[in-house]
Amino acid sequence: MAESEKSNSALSALSTESRSFPPPEQFAAQAKATADWYERADADREGFWAEQADRLDWSTKWDRVLDWDDAPFAKWFTGGELNVAYNCADRHVDAGNGDRVAIHWEGEPGDSRDITYADLKREVSKTANALEDLGVGKGDRVAIQLPMIPEAIFSMLACARLGALHSVVFGGFSPGALKARIEDAEAKVLITSDGQYRRGKPAPMKENTDQAVEGTTIEKVLVVKRTGTEVPWTDGRDLWWGDVVDAASEEHTPQAFEAEHPLFILYTSGTTGKPKGILHTSGGYLTQAAYTHDAVFDHTPGEDVYWCTADIGWITGHTYIVYGPLANGATQIVYEGTPNTPHEGRHWEIVQKYGVSVYYTAPTLIRTFMKWGEDIPAKYDLSSLRVLGTVGEPINPEAWMWFRQKIGAENCPIVDTWWQTETGASMIAPLPGVTHTKPGSAMAPLPGISAIVVDDDGNEVGNGEGGYLVVDKPWPSMLRGIWKDPERFKDTYWSRFADQGYYFAGDGAKYDEDGAIWLLGRVDDVMNVSGHRISTTEVESALVSHPTVAEAAVVGAADETTGQGIVAFVILRGDAAGDESKGEEALKALRDHVSKEIGPIAKPRQIMVVEELPKTRSGKIMRRLLRDVAENREVGDVSTLADSSVMDMITTGMQDSKED
Ligand code: WT7
Repeated sequence: MAESEKSNSALSALSTESRSFPPPEQFAAQAKATADWYERADADREGFWAEQADRLDWSTKWDRVLDWDDAPFAKWFTGGELNVAYNCADRHVDAGNGDRVAIHWEGEPGDSRDITYADLKREVSKTANALEDLGVGKGDRVAIQLPMIPEAIFSMLACARLGALHSVVFGGFSPGALKARIEDAEAKVLITSDGQYRRGKPAPMKENTDQAVEGTTIEKVLVVKRTGTEVPWTDGRDLWWGDVVDAASEEHTPQAFEAEHPLFILYTSGTTGKPKGILHTSGGYLTQAAYTHDAVFDHTPGEDVYWCTADIGWITGHTYIVYGPLANGATQIVYEGTPNTPHEGRHWEIVQKYGVSVYYTAPTLIRTFMKWGEDIPAKYDLSSLRVLGTVGEPINPEAWMWFRQKIGAENCPIVDTWWQTETGASMIAPLPGVTHTKPGSAMAPLPGISAIVVDDDGNEVGNGEGGYLVVDKPWPSMLRGIWKDPERFKDTYWSRFADQGYYFAGDGAKYDEDGAIWLLGRVDDVMNVSGHRISTTEVESALVSHPTVAEAAVVGAADETTGQGIVAFVILRGDAAGDESKGEEALKALRDHVSKEIGPIAKPRQIMVVEELPKTRSGKIMRRLLRDVAENREVGDVSTLADSSVMDMITTGMQDSKED
């Protein structure tokens, strides 16, 4: 509440949450990860991680768990050797599980394909042989821009099998974005497709990737036929997947690579500037991917049907579609399309069809489902669900409750998982059979992970106080650097708290009165109102807790008296979008609601009703652009927006509201 805020703290802690949900008794009784895991990991961190690494098949065992001598450049499991693709495919076949389905693939137009672990091993082997014929070997870079089709997974694992690094670029990125990433990584081969389905229609892909490849290091372009779209062709450079991979041998002997051998580069744009090529390596990454997938989702291979709705173009797809689940022998859903094609119940139809038991998605999608209405999921049998998860942004308590009630039938633990492209795998999240979860909180660092909230000087803050989230001890799946740019790596992540040697995540966070961790958004977005540093997340969640609001984004705009004033952009819920809810009275009620929920200091100066919010393609709100609007500036770079017309709509709306 308002009393606990301090104007001199790094970040005010405004809201309180009294709801808390223990795991269902039956769930807790059978859960794999138990409370003692925290104690075991605290007592012997390296011993705990060594145990987790034993989940994998190593061809040579490591002799040292952690080498932090050259910090912040970590080495995990040195001396150890393994093949990542062998761990994700072959070993399950060797264990007698070749007939188990690895992937239930659902195409957007309604086609589908079941891929067993034996199929996966065969397809990955063929792809590896084909890539080898194209000259790809250890340490080479392969760019991949593909829709969500099985070949994307075969390609990634084929690279891993050869010790080549993949650089996956999200299918919706422009030729310019792809080109910049190809050039930075000096990729040799590009794997792409003729076209991709988007909202029920085939859209061109190769036509665009051709522009990206011009004048780069790319020697060969391997093209998967997906839509049958006609494509431009360069003889000698372009090859059909169907010709070279289908003709390749099914036998491929995986070679072991050292634990620190690079596995992939994944570019993250951050808020501004040139994208950073985040580098991940093999043994530590796969260890934490497998461990967290198992512990956080209470996953049992052969029983659970798991679905992570992310795209393989993001880290979530890398870690929780490809590496974690496949290392664990999971049976999972991979869905190609958008959630409203051909209808708004598509996800629930898939849950019902396959009996999905673990469903992992993003808060932005949950808020969209809320907007579409609860009667849509109500039409399907969702009783197979047992664990729900979220990632990507802070989840508003209101959206959390909706997820729990309307999707989870109040019977599924929700795991809100905080992590980043840079952290490689989950860091802060509940254990579903142990943690008493609170709506909107990621709760506590996982066993083996240490993260704290600190003030400007790097001192840990107390309960009820906010500050900066840091990771204070190295972890196995941590990024090993930024591709070709060690200085930027040190600068971006390790300089803010250099004296303490902490990893600076760039997020604001607080401890509540019980010491649970709440993520409060990027520190770049923090607003400063009359000397109070206020997080965007808390104000947005207060707005979303009003029955008329579906989504909200707030920004600080220059203000003569208070330094910054809070400007809010809100999307109304379907049934509240009538004219009266946009009137002065209704907006005043919303402002008062925020004031009542979290205190008068957080009351928005101005509220604008909008139809859409500007989001990146991974669903994050681009507050930078809203700040431009709120401060009447020319709107900045919109090239990473999912839908660039959104800004025109908002800017026009803002002008209209001023004329009122
Ligand atoms: C940023 C990292 C990790 C995969 C997807 C995003 C935000 C992520 C949460 C969460 C609050 C979250 C943070 C983080 N974020 N998960 N559970 N609660 N915020 O990866 O694109 O690298 O983004 O996403 O701000 O720093 P990413």
